[in-house]
Amino acid sequence: MDEFELHGIGVVTGREACVHALRSPDLTSDPGAGSPSVLLRDGDGHTRVRGVLREIIAGLEPLPDPVLATIEAVVGGLGPAFDLVRDFARPVAGAVTSAVLGVPLDDVFLDHLERTTANLDVFGGADRAGQTSAFRLAVQLSRTAAGPGGLTALRTAHAAGRLDDDELMLNPVVLAHAAYENSLNFLACAGLELATSGPRSVRELVTSICPARYVLRFGAGGPVAVSLTDGLPFGLGRHACPGSGVALAEGEVALTALAKLLDGGCEVGEVVWKSHPVFHGLAKAVVTRSGNR
Ligand code: HEM
Repeated sequence: MDEFELHGIGVVTGREACVHALRSPDLTSDPGAGSPSVLLRDGDGHTRVRGVLREIIAGLEPLPDPVLATIEAVVGGLGPAFDLVRDFARPVAGAVTSAVLGVPLDDVFLDHLERTTANLDVFGGADRAGQTSAFRLAVQLSRTAAGPGGLTALRTAHAAGRLDDDELMLNPVVLAHAAYENSLNFLACAGLELATSGPRSVRELVTSICPARYVLRFGAGGPVAVSLTDGLPFGLGRHACPGSGVALAEGEVALTALAKLLDGGCEVGEVVWKSHPVFHGLAKAVVTRSGNR
């Protein structure tokens, strides 16, 4: 295994070593705190919760017409100069996340969802602000009236005994976060690639951008960060992204429409990157279409 240490955490790199690590029965996603989150557990509990989430995600395959129309409208509404994060990636990822849960999500909700990541305790830091945002959203969603969609499906699964109280409380936020954050980062970075280097396939873009750079696992020797940058953007093994089909479909529609819009040429202005060690993304990237300056 190609492995080195960073801040006391083993880092696995190189495709073969990473595939091996992600498939290894000796490495778990469970840090041992008894979390009800699908991401932070393994075994039967993980399989059960993941099964419920997978059924919900299947409801967006293929993407329903109103979601497609919203994505087209977001791109159609872009002015002569726009920020790829605020004006393109955020409303597109927000619309898909809203469709996943089946509830409208406002800017305050999306701000808290982004704060969840910005402060996520990925490398053992002491900053708990991300957890505070996640908790706030969990409480908010538990009180939200929901129509058909993911939130109602989670409540139905709970009523049927497929999820316990804690699983019902936390996993709506986990699902929203999973659907939103990586898509937000992917769409903005891919938009920048299109603006600077011209058209490429969505699959190529997601592999080269790799919005989630590492996943964390725990072994006998302590925590291990497994790199996904060598061709594994959606991970692999038990926790491999169950939303990859939705992510690729969302990217296809949004990026095709964006590429068309930028067809006549454009200039890239201010570009600001986020600094998170795991979630690779842009904070801001202003694009001005040619002839509009
Ligand atoms: C470009 C966009 C996306 C990327 C790069 C991405 C990447 C990933 C990766 C790498 C994992 C594995 C985490 C691990 O092994 O610990 C994951 C898990 C997950 N993703 Fe995605 N994802 C994206 C979009 C989505 C979307 C749109 C949804 C929902 C519709 C989604 C739902 C999930 C869920 C529920 C998990 C947890 C699975 C589990 O722990 O078993 N993702 N994603």
